[in-house]
Amino acid sequence: MRRFFEGARAARNLGERALLGTGKLEGTAVDAAVGAAAGAALALGAGAAPVAAGAQAVTMPAPAALVLDPQLVDAGAKLPLNKVYLAPMEGVCDPPMRQVITRYGQYDECFSEFIRVTAEPCPHKTLLREVPELEHDGKTDSGCLCRVQLLGDHPQALALTAQRAVELGARSIDLNFGCPSRFVHHGGSLLLKEPELIHEITARVREALDPAIFLSVKFRLGVLSATELSTVVAALAVPGVNEFIIHARTRKDLYKAEGLNWPAITTVLDDTEAGCCRGIAVVANGDITDLASSCQCRAVTLCSRQMVGRAAFGTPNLPQVIRGQEPAMALASVLDVAWEFGCELQKYGCPEKSVLDRLKQFLGYANKYRFKEVLSPFFYTFCRCQTLVEAQQLLSSKKLELSA
Ligand SMILES: Cc1cc2nc3c(=O)[nH]c(=O)nc-3n(C[C@H](O)[C@H](O)[C@H](O)COP(=O)(O)O)c2cc1C
Repeated sequence: MRRFFEGARAARNLGERALLGTGKLEGTAVDAAVGAAAGAALALGAGAAPVAAGAQAVTMPAPAALVLDPQLVDAGAKLPLNKVYLAPMEGVCDPPMRQVITRYGQYDECFSEFIRVTAEPCPHKTLLREVPELEHDGKTDSGCLCRVQLLGDHPQALALTAQRAVELGARSIDLNFGCPSRFVHHGGSLLLKEPELIHEITARVREALDPAIFLSVKFRLGVLSATELSTVVAALAVPGVNEFIIHARTRKDLYKAEGLNWPAITTVLDDTEAGCCRGIAVVANGDITDLASSCQCRAVTLCSRQMVGRAAFGTPNLPQVIRGQEPAMALASVLDVAWEFGCELQKYGCPEKSVLDRLKQFLGYANKYRFKEVLSPFFYTFCRCQTLVEAQQLLSSKKLELSA
């Protein structure tokens, strides 16, 4: 363990040196959170933004999209990757998608879409509808455990809902303080500006559950700025919380590439070693799309646990890829997975039009995250198809073309 941390520190120092080498970090006192944020591997784009650090104003480079640094990638490749999770994605990672995607890549756990809890605890039947895995020992058919994610602002209702999920067979619960949607009123990442409330929610849920039930909290770096992170983390560091899953962006950053801020996560890891979060594992999330980005993320954040979301559709075996165990699945096989997903949706009674829409969504992610050059013209043709027969024919002919 100790050796791991030493290796990880070395990697971080490497990242800091890489940054300092660019000469873009100005000022003498850099706030720990944001200083580390500047520290490692994000691309250091033009445009420096002033950041208040204690009493001193420090000029920080504005975060830009990820640029790979071969030294960091190499350093990260030497660090362990102990767990890989499939991210919760509302409207995307629903039960049929979880069934299909978890057949590939050996995820350590997948997550339900967020289940909205109001002042009334969720009825059992809602939980079973949202997480049908609960009727199968809490697992997908391929044996991947599904964590139940709850979102709400009512501590007692959330605690009771978590208890009900456990009664139905859930073994792990996650609380969502990361959703940035404006349609989620007083919930998700908006609550990060109310540390007392998120503390209360987390504490009530933890108290309501048997200590053997795993409890995680998924959140962003803050509402407006990563400088909020230390307050957020202090509020969420309730004894008995098992894991922090951190999407390395603020609420304001939504999903913008330039908002990605992996290094901010390092400060939390420092707390988990010695500070208020002792014993809480940290999972890094955000733009982990392939082996290189996973390695760089390890080097920058020092986290041995990662969560992947949008890139999982272009690379269904992504966990094995980022573990260095398998090459990324070829496009022809990804098209097979897409069709398998279409068939799974039909098993769930999904109408033809919705199946088509979901197939387009799947291929949209594959196109965006991996196969833009080879898939784009096909994708736009596919988007015009009106029937499943047509969709299947298009997929088959694309596969034939790929094998020619
Ligand atoms: C369409 C969509 C739906 C999402 N729904 C959820 C959700 O229900 N719960 C949650 O905690 N995060 C949700 N997220 C955020 C993801 O879990 C993840 O944190 C984010 O996509 C960053 O990871 P990635 O870059 O690997 O995709 C959603 C993201 C997207 C794009």
